[in-house]
Amino acid sequence: MAKAVKSRRKEPAQKASATSKKKPAARKPFEGAYPPPAEFSKLARVKSMREYEKLYAESVKNPEKFWAGIAKELHWFKPWKKVLEWKEPFAQWFVGGQTNISYNCLDRHLNTWRRNKAAIVWEGEPGDSRTLTYDQLHREVCKFANALKSLGIGKGDRVAVYMGMVPELAVAILACARIGAVHSVIFGGFSTNAIVDRVHDCQAKAIVTCDGAWRRGKVVPLKDTVDEAMPKCPTVEHVIVYKRCGNEIKMHSDHDHWWHELCAGAADECPATPLDSEHSLFILYTSGSTGKPKGIHHTTGGYMLGTYLTTKLVFDVRDTDVYWCTADIGWVTGHSYIVYGPLCNGATSLMYEGAPNHPDPDRFWSIIQKYRVNVFYTAPTAIRAFIKWGEQWPRRHDLSSLRLLGTVGEPINPEAWRWYHSVIGGKRCPIVDTWWQTETGSIMMSPLPGATPTKPGSCTRPLPGIQPDIVTKEGQSKPANEQGLLVVRKPWPSMLRGIWGDPKRFKDVYWSTVKGCYFTGDGAVRDEDGYYWIIGRVDDVIIVAGHNLGTAEVESALVSHASVAEAAVIGIPDELTGHAIVAFVTLKDGAQPGADLKQKLMEHVAHEIGPIAKPKQIRLTGSLPKTRSGKIMRRLLRDIAAGKAQVGDTTTLEDYSVLAKLRETDES
Ligand code: WTA
Repeated sequence: MAKAVKSRRKEPAQKASATSKKKPAARKPFEGAYPPPAEFSKLARVKSMREYEKLYAESVKNPEKFWAGIAKELHWFKPWKKVLEWKEPFAQWFVGGQTNISYNCLDRHLNTWRRNKAAIVWEGEPGDSRTLTYDQLHREVCKFANALKSLGIGKGDRVAVYMGMVPELAVAILACARIGAVHSVIFGGFSTNAIVDRVHDCQAKAIVTCDGAWRRGKVVPLKDTVDEAMPKCPTVEHVIVYKRCGNEIKMHSDHDHWWHELCAGAADECPATPLDSEHSLFILYTSGSTGKPKGIHHTTGGYMLGTYLTTKLVFDVRDTDVYWCTADIGWVTGHSYIVYGPLCNGATSLMYEGAPNHPDPDRFWSIIQKYRVNVFYTAPTAIRAFIKWGEQWPRRHDLSSLRLLGTVGEPINPEAWRWYHSVIGGKRCPIVDTWWQTETGSIMMSPLPGATPTKPGSCTRPLPGIQPDIVTKEGQSKPANEQGLLVVRKPWPSMLRGIWGDPKRFKDVYWSTVKGCYFTGDGAVRDEDGYYWIIGRVDDVIIVAGHNLGTAEVESALVSHASVAEAAVIGIPDELTGHAIVAFVTLKDGAQPGADLKQKLMEHVAHEIGPIAKPKQIRLTGSLPKTRSGKIMRRLLRDIAAGKAQVGDTTTLEDYSVLAKLRETDES
């Protein structure tokens, strides 16, 4: 980031503080914030800001003591000798200790009343449904673990998992974890090349897949894609196929096996292998700025602790809850908050197979009504889609079972936050805006729903044990309301242990920007209440006439206009100002496009942020290019705005037709 500037957001809670350096005399703490509902706080694990402050202060005064206390709530086959061994940038947690996350997710509950409690409640896209109790899930996991063993797969072997969202995806990863095999889930929407790259990078010995997956009423032929990849995957000895859709596939006798045949002969007991705390649990690939995906490497004990504690504190899950995270297990959110975190807590985790708008745009709301969902965790990109589709869809359903809402993945525009709060949450549900990354393993900053007053657009405060800061490149802490680099100053248990096979890149990407700190890649601001406001990736910052503008900030301003559903802004070179802003805007259904509206939107941004942020061009478009996890691919927009015939790498793009449509948007 070239130069730090003050936040210009016009949020009521921030307005007084963020737009000027002078402190207003009569500013009250948490002004304009939404306090947690009293009924919620009464039952919550952390009931007030005072309790949070106390817990936080204790956790950072002696982090090792704090984390050891949490670790003791879980099962260890062998106690650890040392809580933390830290040789920057390499951390080892609970050195000498042995545990197993599959044991902690399953076996730990079997001698309790939870044995027959629903662990996974699953809804298929065609409307079929299944429930697996802890006991049943345990047996399925044991059978599949034995099946893997029968193929010679064991401790340390890498297993790629390329499946749709069926319970067997959770079974597959828990089975790997049970025997110490290292899973690497590849999102089921990825194509052949993505499989080849990832399998090659981690040298996977097996691929677990499905014949097909249901998506918007059609079968996605997963096994065919694996077949296409196989000639370029020489390390893969076995492909295991779970039959989901019954679509026709070819089975190759030399390496293909049906899941049901392998499991039919397998015993339903398979003791969990005691594993060193630092034994590899999984590798998950995330896109890097250079295009080559980074294999983010997580290990057993620390990751287990992070997901366990954060699920407990942030979602405040209760034994009577139906908890639903809408992510795909192909992303870290699904790993941590569909499978590991909820199951370590003995929660009931709902899993849905398909698209949010199949057969109609009210599918999520009908699922909430059907299963009486209490906790609902989704992404801002989904929320903006719901807004675009219109309020009539959620209004058709009884959403009164909901008591807590969450978001993750990108900054949530205050406008979308308020819509979520009132239309979905009926103004009674707190919203936890959770900031974290594939690299952090678990949530780092978030409100605690019974304690923290929330401000729309802020992920509020760090969780216990987590020590973030906002700094200059030299590592100096920034004063309140000044934008800087978001770093984490101290190691935490669920942090990534490295980039698979590439320690140099690990150091370069995360540990060399700010000396002595983990650099998140995000820019952020902290207000006077100590609340964090994520601006976005620092490479998403546009410098206009020497002023830093976070793309998210300008996008939020656009989305706050009544006609706008979604916006993505980018910078293009400009002779006068260095860069000028181009905004790609999607309108709400029913809004009238035209030059008049474009002019109004430009004025609106100028009014909300300042004339400096006024877009030079507005392009109206039906949709935006996004990654499969819903992040806007600004890189492609930049290429399109620059009029390039060829855009860069598009392997992670969700919908290719978007590109052609975007080129047709006029530049006036
Ligand atoms: C962004 C997803 C603002 C951020 C768990 C981060 C957020 C990146 C939030 C990680 C949030 C995630 N508010 N920004 N609540 N949550 N981000 O690895 O830029 O897919 O660095 O992990 O998403 O994305 P990833």
